[in-house]
Amino acid sequence: MKDMNFEEYEVGYNIPAKPGMNAADVQTPCLIVDMDVLEENLDKMQKAADQMGVRLRVHGKMHKSADIAKMQIERGACGICCQKVSEAEAFAREGIKDILVSNEVRDPAKIDRLARLPKLGARAIVCVDDIANVADLSAAAQKHGTEIECLVEIDCGAGRCGVTETADVVKIAKAIDAAQGLKFSGIQAYQGAMQHLDRYEDRKEKIDIAVAMVRKAVDALKAEGLECDIVGGGGTGSYYFEGTSGVYNELQCGSYAFMDADYGRILDENGQPISETQFASSLFLLTQVMSHAKPDKAVVDAGLKAQSVDSGLPKVHGIEGVEYVKCSDEHGVIADPEGKLAINQKIRLIPGHCDPTCNVHDWYVLVRGDRVEDVIPVTARGLAY
Ligand SMILES: Cc1ncc(COP(=O)(O)O)c(C=O)c1O
Repeated sequence: MKDMNFEEYEVGYNIPAKPGMNAADVQTPCLIVDMDVLEENLDKMQKAADQMGVRLRVHGKMHKSADIAKMQIERGACGICCQKVSEAEAFAREGIKDILVSNEVRDPAKIDRLARLPKLGARAIVCVDDIANVADLSAAAQKHGTEIECLVEIDCGAGRCGVTETADVVKIAKAIDAAQGLKFSGIQAYQGAMQHLDRYEDRKEKIDIAVAMVRKAVDALKAEGLECDIVGGGGTGSYYFEGTSGVYNELQCGSYAFMDADYGRILDENGQPISETQFASSLFLLTQVMSHAKPDKAVVDAGLKAQSVDSGLPKVHGIEGVEYVKCSDEHGVIADPEGKLAINQKIRLIPGHCDPTCNVHDWYVLVRGDRVEDVIPVTARGLAY
């Protein structure tokens, strides 16, 4: 994908594998992506969005990879979301042309960088939840002769950024509309707190509330002559609710591309895990057994420094009767009561939470069958400023 000069890299020292290698020789711990599964996940979500008649603006904070974002855009995604100005810059430098920073940007230095994003060739969209932010964004856009598009963010249940009163949405939207260098582009309303609720009915109940709030705001804006080009939100656990709401017109799903153990637990409308009926795991943390000194425990080389366990421990993929039970800095303990695992055996783990796991890796090893198809950088890895 990306034009890489692999001669500069040495397998095991600064890269886990090179294209063409046998997948069995990939160095651990590292992230591997099953390309057949990834492509199927991407196709399915794009098809779902197309069928619902809404745009898909994929969340790039999940994979932080310009190459994977391009695969999503080639399939029909209108652009990406990201969460930080630094991520937006990394994606824009790699040629992504339509970027929503689905977050508030308040620091003057970051606002200045946001205003320069169009000079990298990208549409720059940002969220606003405070009228005081409008003048700062406007000044920066005028200084650089660019345009920043603004969405008013509604807190529709996530309990983080965003206003909760329709009157505040209208007030901020009017201020944006009147400001030089800014364009009022619509509403951001992501209900993040419900995505991982196990039961479909519980998730639906939360999104019904969000949809009602967003509809009220859209109508109030329309009454003031303000049209919403974008009404955005939705994630892997809810996209069908927002997509069929008749109010949202952009979905922001991220995790569906890779899936993780936490999302693997949530259920569809028939009580089946969505990992069995919608999107399968395409991302694995490849790890290797380095000790089996205790007959009932295998110790592997993927610990805390290789993954995030905030949403639970990883799941062992494809081997019955073993369980990843303990994680310390450099070690993972896998309960292996039947002694199934052997020294040097490579094991695929499904990460507990994909976003922060990807963030601590430099590379994705793209695997098709038993061959390494490509190795791509985690473009915006670690960037948090
Ligand atoms: C604003 C926003 N939109 C969309 C998403 C994507 O959600 P998911 O990874 O659950 O599909 C996130 C993830 O946290 C988010 O913060």
